[in-house]
Amino acid sequence: MKTDLHAPLREDVRLLGELLGDTLREQGDAALFETIENIRKVSVQGRGEGRVEMDALRDLLTALDDQQLLNVARAFNQFLNLANIAEQHHRERLRRHQQDFNDSPSAGASTAHGMAEVIQRLRSNGVADDEIYDCLTTLSVELVLTAHPTEVTRRTLIRKYDNIAELLGQRERSDLTAEEKATGIESLRRLILSAWCTDEIRRQKPTPVDEAKWGFATIEQSLWYAVPTALRELDAITEAALGKRLPVSCSPLRIASWMGGDRDGNPNVTASVTREVLCLARWMAADLYLRDIENLMADLSMQAASDELMQYLGGTTESSYEPYRVVLRQLRQRLRATRVRMEAMLNGKEVPAQKWFSCREDLSEPLLLIDRSLRECGMATIADGDLRDTLRRLSCFGVSLLSLDIRQESSRHVQAVDAVTAYLSMGSYQDWNESQRQAFLLGELQSKRPLVNQGFFDSEYCTDDVAEVFATCRTIAQTDAGALGAYVISMAHQPSDLLAVMLLQRESGVASWMRVVPLFETLDDLNNATETMSALLEIDWYRDKVSDGQEIMIGYSDSAKDAGYLAAAWAQFRSQESLTALFARHGIALTLFHGRGGSISRGGAPTRMALLSQPPGSVAGRIRVTEQGEVIRFKYGLPAVAVDNLAQYMAATLEATLAPPKAPTDAWRAEMDRLTETSVAAYRGVVKDEPELVRYLRTVTPEQELTRLALGSRPARRKQDAGIASLRAIPWVFAWTQIRLMLPAWLGTGAALQASLSDSARQPILKEMIGNWSFFQGAVDMLEMVLAKADPIVAAYYEQRLTDDPALLALGSDLRQRLHDCVETLAAISGDKNLLANNPVMQWSIKVRNPYTDPLHLLQAELMHRHRQQEGSNATLDSALMVTIAGIAAGMRNTG
Ligand code: PGA
Repeated sequence: MKTDLHAPLREDVRLLGELLGDTLREQGDAALFETIENIRKVSVQGRGEGRVEMDALRDLLTALDDQQLLNVARAFNQFLNLANIAEQHHRERLRRHQQDFNDSPSAGASTAHGMAEVIQRLRSNGVADDEIYDCLTTLSVELVLTAHPTEVTRRTLIRKYDNIAELLGQRERSDLTAEEKATGIESLRRLILSAWCTDEIRRQKPTPVDEAKWGFATIEQSLWYAVPTALRELDAITEAALGKRLPVSCSPLRIASWMGGDRDGNPNVTASVTREVLCLARWMAADLYLRDIENLMADLSMQAASDELMQYLGGTTESSYEPYRVVLRQLRQRLRATRVRMEAMLNGKEVPAQKWFSCREDLSEPLLLIDRSLRECGMATIADGDLRDTLRRLSCFGVSLLSLDIRQESSRHVQAVDAVTAYLSMGSYQDWNESQRQAFLLGELQSKRPLVNQGFFDSEYCTDDVAEVFATCRTIAQTDAGALGAYVISMAHQPSDLLAVMLLQRESGVASWMRVVPLFETLDDLNNATETMSALLEIDWYRDKVSDGQEIMIGYSDSAKDAGYLAAAWAQFRSQESLTALFARHGIALTLFHGRGGSISRGGAPTRMALLSQPPGSVAGRIRVTEQGEVIRFKYGLPAVAVDNLAQYMAATLEATLAPPKAPTDAWRAEMDRLTETSVAAYRGVVKDEPELVRYLRTVTPEQELTRLALGSRPARRKQDAGIASLRAIPWVFAWTQIRLMLPAWLGTGAALQASLSDSARQPILKEMIGNWSFFQGAVDMLEMVLAKADPIVAAYYEQRLTDDPALLALGSDLRQRLHDCVETLAAISGDKNLLANNPVMQWSIKVRNPYTDPLHLLQAELMHRHRQQEGSNATLDSALMVTIAGIAAGMRNTG
C-alpha cells in the first residue's frame, strides 16, 4: 500500500477509535474501560502475531456477567461502525483525488473506468462518435431499491454516522482555523457519545410502510441531488468528448422500488399497503418538487419572455411583469393540490376536486416552456442552472417518485386460477399439465367475456390468499401506469406462470398491462429459461403482446443457494446468452433484470465487474438491477458517493454495450461444464444430502437467533419448517457469515477448481480462462475476496462452545478442511499465498477489523451458549446477542 495515499484513512480510524475510548472512559466505570482495553490488546496482539487468542480471550470474557458482556459487545460494535464510516469517507476522498479504491483486485480503478475514459477508449478502439452518442442518449440504467432485510443499522444511527462522515470531510479542508479544528473534534465527540447512548438494536419489526419510507428517505436525502449532478457531469463529459450535449429529455437513470410492492413470502405486504405506499410516494414527489419550484420562483424574476410563453399566460399585466413567476406560481398551486389529494387518500377522506399532477408531462411541459423562453431571450446560462436539474429529476423520478414493482410467487397465482376453475366446476387447474393450463389461459385471454363474477368472490373458493392476489391486481387497475414498474413472478417455472398473471390482470380490469416479468431463480429454471420463453414466443398472441420488449429477471441468490456459487454463475451466464440470442432472432428488445444481493454469495459484485461479466450482447444499453439493504446505504446514502456510483453504472453499461467482453471459446465452455458438474455434486452432496447439516446450521450458527432480529418486515422462511429449502437465501448466507465459515460462497467451487488444477490437461485451459475471460476472472476474484473474510479458527470456536456432539464436530471439521483446501487451491492459482495480495486496502481493512470482530465472535458463541442453557427469555442476553450480530455484520461490511 502506498503509505501516503491511505495514511488519512488510518488517521481517521485512529481518531474515531480514540474518541470512542474517551467516551467509554467517561461513561462507563473505569473497570469496564479497563476490561475492554484488555480484550482489545490481547486481540490486537494475537492477530499481530498471526494468531487468534482464543483461550486468553475466552478467559477474559467468561469471567464477565451478562450486563458486562452487553457493554463489551456494544463497544466493539461501535468501533466497527466507526471504521466503516472512515472507510466510506476514504472512498470519497480517493474519488476526489482520482485514485483507485475498488473492492476487487482486478475490477480496476473506478476512475480509470469513468465515463470520460470509457468514451476515450471506445473511440480509440474505432467506435464511431455517433454510435457512442446514440448509445448514451438511449442508455437506461434502472436501479430497483428492494425491501430486502439486510440492513441491521437503525436509521437513527445512520443519521449520526452520516454526520460523522461529514465532519471527517470538513477536517480535510486546508484552511481550517485552530478553533474550527477544535470545534470539529468536539462535534465528533458529541456524535460518538450520542451514538453510544442510543440503543443500536431495532426493537420492533419494521412494517412494509416503514421500509418504503426508508427508501423514500434515500431519495430525499441523497438521490434527489445525486441524480441531476451525475447527469450534469455526464452531459459535460459528452460535450467535451463528442462536441454535443445530451437532450434534456435524455433519462439514462431510473429508480424503481420493491418496498411495499414485494409480497413474495411476505404476508405483511397487502393490497392496501401497496395503495398506501403509492400515495406516500406521490406525496413525497410533490413535496420535493414544491421545494424545487419555490427555489425557481425565487430565482426566475426576469421579465423578458418568448411570445410562446406570453401566449400561454394570456397576456395579463402581472404576467408581463414577472412571467416566469406566474407560471411557477400555477405549478406551485397544483403541487400543493397534489399533496392535499394524497393526504386525503391516505386518510380515507373525500378527495378535493382540484387540478393535480397525475403525469410527468403535466409538470414538464410548462417547465420546458420556461426553458425555451429563457434560451430564446438570451438567458441560456440561467436555463442551464437549477431548472435543468428539476427537468432532469422529472425524467428520472417522474411525478410518482419511483415506479413500484409488484412481486408474487408463481404458486400463489396457480392457487388463484385453481380457485376459479374449481368455482366454475371446470376441474382443478393445479392438477392440469402444462399444455392444458396453457390452452385454458390462452383461450380465456383471447375471449372477451369475463371469467368470474361477484359470485366467485363471495364463494368459499375465494380464500383469503386468493382474494389478496385479486385485490393486488385491482390495485394495479386503479393505479396510473406511470407509477408502476414490473410484475415480477418469483419461482417462475413455465410459460403458464406468465400467462396466468396476464389473465389475473385482465380479470381485474387492468387496462394498461403491468409488464409481466418472470424471475428464473433455481438451477433448473435458469437452464430451462430459454425453452420457457421460446414456447411463449411461438404463440402469436403472446409475441404480439411483447412486441415492444420483454424483461426477464435473473435470480442470483436462490440459484446459488440451490446449486452453489460457480454452477449458479455459469447457469446465469448461459441462460442470459441464449435468451439474448432468442430475442434477437425474434427482433424483440430484451431487458435483463439482475436480482443481485449485496454479498458475494448472493451475486454481489463491484459494478463494472458485474457488467463486464455478462455475456456479450446481453447488456445492449439497458440494465435493471436490484440494490438492497446496507448496499443502498453504502452506495447511495451520501450524495457524493451516490454520484460516483451512478456514474460507474452508466459508464460500465456503455462499455459493456459497445465493447462487450469476449465470448468464451468452446474449450472454456467445456471446461466450465466440467467444473460445474464437480461443483454442483460437491455442493449438493453437503447442502442437500448431508443429514447433519440442518442440525449443524441450527446448533453452531446463530440461524435461529437471527429470526429474532427485527431486520425486515418479512419472515425468514417461506414455510414454517426447519429445512434448508424453505429458508430464504438471506438468512442462509447471513448465518454462515456470522461464524465466518462463508460456506455458500465457496462450497463446491473450491473442489471444482482443485480438480481442474490437478489435471495436467485441464490446467492450461483454466489458467487461460483466468487470464482472458472477464466472467471467470470475476468469479475467481470474488472467491478470493470472500475467502479473505472466512476464518476457520473462528468457526471452530463456535463448534467447541456450542456442541459436543461427535457427528456435528466431525461435520464441522470436514467443512473446515474443505475451506482450507479451497484457500490452498486459490493460492496455487494466483501463485501467492497471501489472499488479496493485489488489493492492499481491502487486506488492510480486514486486518484492522479482525481484533474487533474476534471478541464479538467469542462473545456471540458465549451468549448463544448461555441463552440456550436458560429457560425463558433474558432481555440483557438477548440484547447482547443482537449487538454481536449487528457488530459482526458491520465488521464484514455486509450481513451475508
Ligand atoms: P429473495 O432474495 O429471497 O427475495 O428472492 C434473496 C436475496 O436477495 O438474497
